[in-house]
Amino acid sequence: MKLNLEKAFLQESVLEYQSEVTRLHEALHNKTGKGNDFVGWVEWPNTYDKEEFERIKVAAKKIRENCDILVVCGIGGSYLGARAAIEMINGLYSDDKMEVIFLGNTFSSTYIKQVMNYIEGKKFAVNVISKSGTTTETSIAFRLLKQLVEKQYGKENAKEYIYATTDKARGTLKALADQEGYETFVIPDDIGGRFSVTTAVGLLPIACAGIDIDEVMKGAKDAYHDFNTDDLNQNIAYQYAVARRILEKQGKVAEMLVSYELQMTMIAEWWKQLFGESEGKEGKGLIPYSGTFSTDLHSLGQFVQDGNKVMFETVINVERPTLDIEFPSDEENMDHMNYLAGKSVHWVNQMAALGTLDAHVDTGNVPNILLTIENMSAYTFGYMTYFFFKAIAMTAYLLDINPFNQPGVEVYKKNMFKLLGKN
Ligand code: PA5
Repeated sequence: MKLNLEKAFLQESVLEYQSEVTRLHEALHNKTGKGNDFVGWVEWPNTYDKEEFERIKVAAKKIRENCDILVVCGIGGSYLGARAAIEMINGLYSDDKMEVIFLGNTFSSTYIKQVMNYIEGKKFAVNVISKSGTTTETSIAFRLLKQLVEKQYGKENAKEYIYATTDKARGTLKALADQEGYETFVIPDDIGGRFSVTTAVGLLPIACAGIDIDEVMKGAKDAYHDFNTDDLNQNIAYQYAVARRILEKQGKVAEMLVSYELQMTMIAEWWKQLFGESEGKEGKGLIPYSGTFSTDLHSLGQFVQDGNKVMFETVINVERPTLDIEFPSDEENMDHMNYLAGKSVHWVNQMAALGTLDAHVDTGNVPNILLTIENMSAYTFGYMTYFFFKAIAMTAYLLDINPFNQPGVEVYKKNMFKLLGKN
């Protein structure tokens, strides 16, 4: 993974933040900073439970052998990472026989009913994921799914098709799973939802999608080593964090995460939660939003080029696509496209990215942070997610914010529970 800040228009040198970064790096690693109960993710690539990891592989193999569909039931940090991984690594129309469907992430009755109708009568398994075990969207969907599983496979056999990922010992879901005899996987106490994709939360669905989770953890482990230093000359996760901070000080209010691959769209959704929930508090933080180009150049592109200059872009460039196509020649050339004959479509995509970079930076005056990843493999996913964890933890610490709580999301729940008549 590479970071290029040459087109970020930074008015200060990143290196000027070295002493602050050193102090905050130590606070993060020594567990003396804000939110220090939730820094289990820092060492996780080394400390993860190897016995559980093997159990995840066994469960995934069984699910893949017995079912055609996995329904993942969860929301927020218990949903976004797995979906982001599966779409990035497998692509949107994968050859893999296992279909992974997400539920428990909405109150939309139409969506819920359509998924229930779609899976009924098919061979499906369920992975319900909730750390608290009380999240309303997930609980509503899971009750419906549990009843469907029992109807379809019989109450006695339901435990062969339902897997629960939840707290190690506490909570409603843990109690229910134990009573029903479901196999359970653990969300560690000291890892918050949005930092949990390389725990069982992400790994079981990812493995069910036929992805090599050893590679995911290998990527995370290499990133752990690469970003384990406080030295700003070497640590690009911290360079990115400081660059974001400098741009915020220069008056930017929003960061647009851009990629040129549709299969990265859910990565941006995952990133929005990670960054938005971690730094958007106490009246501080950058608004995280996103675009997938060139698709969105035909919509948001106008605003980026000519609109209010409140934002900067962080562009993820993928060096090697998962698949490529050579553009064919056509004898009649009625569409006048023969000038591209023999070129690869990925090359066209790269030229679009280069042209857009110049347009947005040179003409549009929009700062661009450039990230490059080699490919969209399982290894890169593990590596890149750890990069973003380290970057957002440092950004929030630079803002003197606790990155690991989300007090703001309780407000809507309180109002909703009152309206729903929950005691
Ligand atoms: O990042 C977080 O902590 C949240 O987004 C949670 O993951 C989300 O609210 C779901 O919570 P739970 O896993 O308890 O159902």
